Order: sequence, then C-alpha cells, then structure tokens
Amino acid sequence: MERVLNSSEAVSSRQEKHTLTDKEFRFLCQLVYKSSGIVLDERKREMVYRRLMRRTRELKVASFTEYCQLLKDNHNAEVDNFINAITTNLTSFFREKHHFDYLEQEFLPSVLNKHRRSDDSKRLRIWSAACSTGEEPYSIAISLLSVLGNNSRSWDAKILATDIDSNVVATAQSGVYVDDRISDLDKTLAQKWFVKGTGNNEGFIRTHQNLQDIITFKQLNILHDWPMSGPFDVIFCRNVMIYFDKETQNRLLPRFYDILTPGGILFLGHSESIQKDSINFEFKGKTIFRKPL
Ligand SMILES: C[S@@+](CC[C@H](N)C(=O)[O-])C[C@H]1O[C@@H](n2cnc3c(N)ncnc32)[C@H](O)[C@@H]1O
Repeated sequence: MERVLNSSEAVSSRQEKHTLTDKEFRFLCQLVYKSSGIVLDERKREMVYRRLMRRTRELKVASFTEYCQLLKDNHNAEVDNFINAITTNLTSFFREKHHFDYLEQEFLPSVLNKHRRSDDSKRLRIWSAACSTGEEPYSIAISLLSVLGNNSRSWDAKILATDIDSNVVATAQSGVYVDDRISDLDKTLAQKWFVKGTGNNEGFIRTHQNLQDIITFKQLNILHDWPMSGPFDVIFCRNVMIYFDKETQNRLLPRFYDILTPGGILFLGHSESIQKDSINFEFKGKTIFRKPL
C-alpha cells in the first residue's frame, strides 16, 4: 500500500508542507543513486523530506510532484542542487586525529628521510577525495607544512581537494569559518594557521594563505572518470564510502589502489574497511592502508 509521509510527521514548521508519496521517494532514491552512488532507504525518508522541503521553498515549487517533474524535465540544471541538498557534509578539523598523527609521525618523516640525500624530484601529492567544507584538506596542509618546516620551499607538495557538492567546495575554497570550528584546536596551532576576522568579520576565522597556496579545490564525483593522472602519495577518502553499496565500494577501491604510488597510503573513515582478500593493501593501523612497495 502506498505510504504518504504526513507533513506533521516530518517537519514542524508554520510554512506550507507537501506530501511525499512512495513513488516520488523511490524516484528520488534512484536519481541520488545514479548521480552520486549514495544509497538511500526508508530510514532516510524523513531526512530527504526535510532537506527537499527547504529546496522546494527556495524554488517556490508547490509540491514534490512538481519538484520531481522539474528534475525530470530540467535534469542537469536542478540535479546538482538536488545532490547538494541530499549530501551529508559533517566534518571537522583534525577529525580522526590518529590519521594526522600517522601522517606527521610516520609517513612524512619516512618520505623526507628517503629524499634527504637524493637529487630526484621532491614531489608529494595528496588527495582529499570527499573534502566537504575543507576542514580535512586544511588539516592535511597544516600537518604537511608543519613537518616540512624550512624544507617546504625545496618540495613540490600539493593537495587536491574534491567533493561532489559544489556548495561545500565553494566554502572550502573560501577558507572562512565561524571561529568556534577551531575552539578545540591547540592554541599555538590556531594562532599560526588561522587569521582572526575583525570588524564585520568578527567571529570568523580564515585559513592562512600558505595553506591555501598548496591546495587546489575542484568539484568531482569520485565515481566518474578522474581527470588527474596521479600518482598520489596519500589519499584521504573518509566517511563517504559508508553511503555507497558494496558493489560501488568494490569498484572504487581498486581505482584508489591504481592511482597510489607504491608505498602510498589510503586513509578511510572510522567505520569503513577493506576486505582482507579483495585488494593487496597492507594494513598499517586503524583504517590506514598502504600499497606495497
Ligand atoms: C560526511 S562528509 C566527509 C568529509 C570528510 N572526508 C571527513 O571525513 O570529515 C561526506 C562527503 O562526501 C561527499 N560525497 C558524497 N558522494 C560523493 C561522490 N560520489 N563523489 C564525491 N564526493 C561525494 C559529500 O558531498 C560530503 O561532503
């Protein structure tokens, strides 16, 4: 039997509410899956309802029937906004701190050591593959520049930060955050790498230019072709595969493997994993995987 989500079940708002039929919900789920790989099910229905209510209000669209029709007719123009509305962008500076400890204390020192006496190119490439609003790539940049220290100039070190959601990429690129985003950060680190806003910008902070200089931000769906050839020394793909089904994950992981340099590291999110016998990654610690040399 067709279940209709009653408006009062989903939102408590004084504004007009729409109903979302099973058929419309199924259409939206299929479109999200096809466009982003994100799997939605009945448990996400209320979340989808809330987020799309906001979008229909912005567009002044009178019903979900009309909104679904708009997605069908005007596919590419609205589908990006639709995906932006559906993605979950939760992130923070130095989230899952043990990854940054591994980067600073194990991986980067070993790379520096290897190049200490050699004249070969000192190239380092790191990819933050679902960077959300940018806290992840800026944290990587802080770790990187902190370890390179005075050697930074002799290194060609760059970070690529990508996400499917064009809104979060724009925020990431601006490098501007409300100041409580860094309230848990070590004070010395905060003073060194963030500029406090004054006047109209009071209450905001901006990431230091030196961090911005080594990061390139781009919108990219990781399930599509990758325009970059790599290889990457490190890939952060954290807390996004959890939204994909096994089939999509199994297609993605070998691609990360192929674009990593031998000895390169893949960091996954806290509840993500790689089946032991599926790919030849070496396990280096909780959600830390290395491509063998
Ligand atoms: C929960 S956030 C994780 C952010 C960050 N990696 C972290 O761990 O803090 C997940 C991000 O994945 C992005 N995402 C979802 N599907 C994607 C896809 N197919 N390609 C690229 N990014 C995607 C979302 O837009 C969102 O910003």
